[in-house]
Amino acid sequence: MSEFLSRRFDGMKPYAPGEQPQGREYVKLNTNESPYPPAPGVIDALGRAAAERLNLYPDPKARSARAAIAASLGVRPENVILGNGSDELLAFCFQAFCDAGAPAVYHDIAYGFYKVFARALGAPSRVVPLESDFGVDVDKLCPAGGTLVLANPNAPTGLALPISAIEAILRANPRNVVVIDEAYAEFGAESALPLIAEHGNLIVMRTMSKSRNLAGARLGYAVASEPLIADLNRMRFSFNPYNVNALSLLAAEASVRDEAYFRQCVGSIAKTRRFASDALQRRGFELTRSLANFLFARPGFMGGGEYYARLKEKGVLVRHFADERISGHVRITVGTAEQMQALLDATDEIIAAGGSAAAGESIALE
Ligand SMILES: Cc1ncc(COP(=O)(O)O)c(C=O)c1O
Repeated sequence: MSEFLSRRFDGMKPYAPGEQPQGREYVKLNTNESPYPPAPGVIDALGRAAAERLNLYPDPKARSARAAIAASLGVRPENVILGNGSDELLAFCFQAFCDAGAPAVYHDIAYGFYKVFARALGAPSRVVPLESDFGVDVDKLCPAGGTLVLANPNAPTGLALPISAIEAILRANPRNVVVIDEAYAEFGAESALPLIAEHGNLIVMRTMSKSRNLAGARLGYAVASEPLIADLNRMRFSFNPYNVNALSLLAAEASVRDEAYFRQCVGSIAKTRRFASDALQRRGFELTRSLANFLFARPGFMGGGEYYARLKEKGVLVRHFADERISGHVRITVGTAEQMQALLDATDEIIAAGGSAAAGESIALE
């Protein structure tokens, strides 16, 4: 840190992304990416003709991609904004809708970036503890007393609320913005999208990093009433009007045009999730009922940090969080059936070897 960094950021802990190992090949189950390639149309769209247009700025209104996304969801393009990953749009939400009169409200066990955004963007926070079984007590959010940011399914627990609960939350918070972060909704949870038309204070946040196999393209979008989208665009045009690059815009459009491929990939993940979840349960793991593309699991036979470290030695990378409430758990991305079998094989070896290793490296909640 230099002497020039504003005192505002004294003590700020930035977000720690999951490892992206270079060099050694791992069975990579640590950052909830899809194990499948993008839709074939995406690969075609990113051909030479697209690359030749890189001398021009992308459309700052992202008209074509926005229209395609809106059509796929049955909403109007005016209800959609694209972001450089949903992280960027989440940051705009903290910037636009959180202040002393409307603190950011989020759970203690949630996507780790919420806390970082609040701190970095000067938003006061109200942190609501999850229940002992990691469930959400909806009454504690009715009212929330600020701008609510709720991941549904939650990360890293994978647990999801039904749309009736989201509706109850919206009804109890008519004077505050409610952001439902649906990064993982397409893997089996109920979406709040049908509530957009009726609730002008709702923002549904989506990403193409998970279910659309496009983590590398950095594409997210938000769906909301026109005035809220206008607010988010105010943030965007005050920061980076060309926030989504031309190649990613083409990728977004091509991806949403291939519904069949999307369904196939998401279906495979749901099937593999069931198989892996059952297999881990048989090995003594405690699991939440995850509706996301990851499992949140507590090995019965050793600590979460130790299990993470042993797996890594064997070439399998999962995610471990140091936060006390969940340090006994690991988060395991659902990959292909072969990748999950590799995880199970490595786990069987660890169980057979018994004993205990030094607690593994761990990082703050993602
Ligand atoms: C709950 C949640 N929201 C948002 C994101 C950010 O996704 P993106 O890749 O679109 O920035 C993540 C990424 O892991 C996430 O887990």
